[in-house]
Amino acid sequence: MTITLASLQAHEILDSRGRPTLQVALTTSTGEEFTAQVPSGASTGSGEAVELRDHDPERYDGKGVLTAVAHVNEAIADALVGRPFAAQADLDAALLDLDGTRDKSALGANAIVGVSIAAVRAFAAAAARPLWSQLSVDGAAPRLPVPHFNVVNGGAHAPNALDFQEFMIAPIGAPSYPEALRAGAEIYGRLRTRLAAAGHAGGLGDEGGFAPELSHPDEVLQILVAAIDDAGYRPDRHGVAIALDPAASEFGEHGSYTVAGRRWSSADLIGYYEEIVDRFPIWSIEDGLGEDDSTGWQELTARLGERVQLVGDDNFVTNPRIIEQAIADGIGNAALIKVNQIGTVTETLEAMSLCRQAGYAAMISHRSGETPDTFIADLAVGSGCGQLKSGAPARGERVAKYNRLLEIAGEARRPDGSTGLAFGIEAR
Ligand code: PGA
Ligand code: ZN
Repeated sequence: MTITLASLQAHEILDSRGRPTLQVALTTSTGEEFTAQVPSGASTGSGEAVELRDHDPERYDGKGVLTAVAHVNEAIADALVGRPFAAQADLDAALLDLDGTRDKSALGANAIVGVSIAAVRAFAAAAARPLWSQLSVDGAAPRLPVPHFNVVNGGAHAPNALDFQEFMIAPIGAPSYPEALRAGAEIYGRLRTRLAAAGHAGGLGDEGGFAPELSHPDEVLQILVAAIDDAGYRPDRHGVAIALDPAASEFGEHGSYTVAGRRWSSADLIGYYEEIVDRFPIWSIEDGLGEDDSTGWQELTARLGERVQLVGDDNFVTNPRIIEQAIADGIGNAALIKVNQIGTVTETLEAMSLCRQAGYAAMISHRSGETPDTFIADLAVGSGCGQLKSGAPARGERVAKYNRLLEIAGEARRPDGSTGLAFGIEAR
């Protein structure tokens, strides 16, 4: 189904951290309008496509995005408006052509990704199909993903002394998506009660998880297991499992890390992960080691790759070329997928396709700076990857994605009431 853009307009809005980002609106020749809002990370991988900021110290501490906005309104609009596109891949190729750099530093990945996401909405409408149906990967059947709720925040997302960035609960054994969402919200509530009782009331981190003044990951894991139990669920890899994103690049370099006030080598951390995988129902570890620690990653994968999912984020940056090399090097067994790390929908789907062909899993992810845009919920369903992390089951910008999944589940329900979409992680 061909679309022709009639107009393209961006402007500056605020993200969930109060920093500027872009909203892009396009209209097609049919007169319909489609929008996208662009997320932004804090613990970013060094190989991510470039998020263009103004660096004008007089505005928003230099974080304004008026340059990126102008690129959408001028260069990109000039190149795209009035030109027919038969497919998303053609439109994304035109964006890459216009930018002309490897890291999207000319136009800015934040400008490009806003246009790319708004465009895929236009293609879906033109085909009179739900958005998720435009986002399939190698013919994988669409599925409702297991939500990974980030309920305790540390690292770059919270002001506490906790070095590990994310402690997530994943209701893998829930019978359906709505029941998984319910489990997440109920456990979050019990966790609040437990933390308050232990004198760790405190505030929330950027992704809506609690930010208690704890420093050792063991302490958090114990409280998490207790909260799962309190809520009446089974803390178990087949019940409610735990997933970690230590985001180790933020607390170490060159294979030397600082956790809970102590220095750890890669081998120390790998040994610690082996130990906690034995003691707690941990099923997935993302960025367990730093992005520059490839030999550590190979060792981690050799030692733990058969037992848990090992997800590359800062080191993979949703980049098909980098993921291809990592697969060849035996690094990890899964990739985190963030559309704004690479900058176009087409390259994102390409990264997921590579993962699928290599037997690597994929988890769709929000960013720590978010907006109410729910694109990633549709991406998780359409790609059939079975996993989504979108923060705590609290705060509007996080909950918007989880609620969009409820909507998709509802729309897909058959007349007999059964849902037309499978739920959960595909058995492989
Ligand atoms: P970010 O964090 O959005 O700040 O990069 C998310 C993550 O590390 O997975
Ligand atoms: Zn991460």
